[in-house]
Amino acid sequence: MATETDHPLVILGAGYTGRLVYEKGTARGRIVLAASRTPQHHLDFVPLARRLRFDLEDRTTWRNLPSSCDLLWCFPAEPPELVQEFAGNLTVRRPVVLGSTSAYQENPSRDYPPPWIDETASLDLKKPRVQGEEWLRMNCQAVVLRVAGIYGLGRNPLNWIKQGRVGPSRKYVNLIHVEDLANICLVALERGVRGEAYNVSDGTPRTWQDICHLAKERFGVQPTVEVRDGLIGKRIDNGKLLSLLTQAGAPLRHTDLLQSLEQIVAAETPSEATP
Ligand SMILES: NC(=O)c1ccc[n+]([C@@H]2O[C@H](COP(=O)([O-])OP(=O)(O)OC[C@H]3O[C@@H](n4cnc5c(N)ncnc54)[C@H](OP(=O)(O)O)[C@@H]3O)[C@@H](O)[C@H]2O)c1
Repeated sequence: MATETDHPLVILGAGYTGRLVYEKGTARGRIVLAASRTPQHHLDFVPLARRLRFDLEDRTTWRNLPSSCDLLWCFPAEPPELVQEFAGNLTVRRPVVLGSTSAYQENPSRDYPPPWIDETASLDLKKPRVQGEEWLRMNCQAVVLRVAGIYGLGRNPLNWIKQGRVGPSRKYVNLIHVEDLANICLVALERGVRGEAYNVSDGTPRTWQDICHLAKERFGVQPTVEVRDGLIGKRIDNGKLLSLLTQAGAPLRHTDLLQSLEQIVAAETPSEATP
């Protein structure tokens, strides 16, 4: 009888998240193949035999995928026409697509705090990537993960504040640590219900005001910009994801932002050379 490990897992777009899924999947004994548009430049962490060249925009690379694999799609599923042409001829066992919480329509009311958003909320189908994701969900029974802001080692929110990419405001942000996201991808591949969408966040929407306050008090990081755009953001409900993770016995590990930021800062700080 076939087992999970009989089928290779192909990661389309082995970037920040995909690389970690590659490492975790391989460590769990799966055969994982990583794909890139330029494998010679971006896949030096993957043995040659496990590298694939794949570019959605280059049809000649589509045939590089093995048949009957599991698939993790880690870049925006657009343009929709090309997504349909590619996926229409694909024989994939279990497809999982990384989407974004930006798929949900902005809340037209100005209620504050903004209402909680679960997977039944209205989508912004004007966005090409949302069209692509929804086509994959409905026609290929893909599991779509609607992912919040990804952070972790190498993507440190304290740097976003220092660089002025964000500043103190009432806007809510939802985050997920890349370590948790990589585990969630593997759980979704093994147990996600086909054709379903799952919100992926750590479950605690925070305002940038609160995060900037934490950054200043605990890490001495001062905001460099004032934000007056009036945006209120979203509060993402991760209840459906938590049920899936509970069934899998794979709880979220990074729900305490302060602790996770401390770990990132410690990992970024060069240790003193021993004499
Ligand atoms: N960053 C966030 O905070 C955030 C939040 C919500 C959702 N997401 C979504 O989550 C997913 C993973 O995010 P990430 O930050 O881990 O992604 P990432 O680091 O950008 O990795 C994705 C990789 O996909 C490859 N790629 C891009 N376009 C492609 C194409 N047309 N055909 C084939 N490969 C292509 C690129 O690698 P090569 O150059 O090697 O081909 C790219 O590095 C993405 O879909 C992203 O939009 C991200």
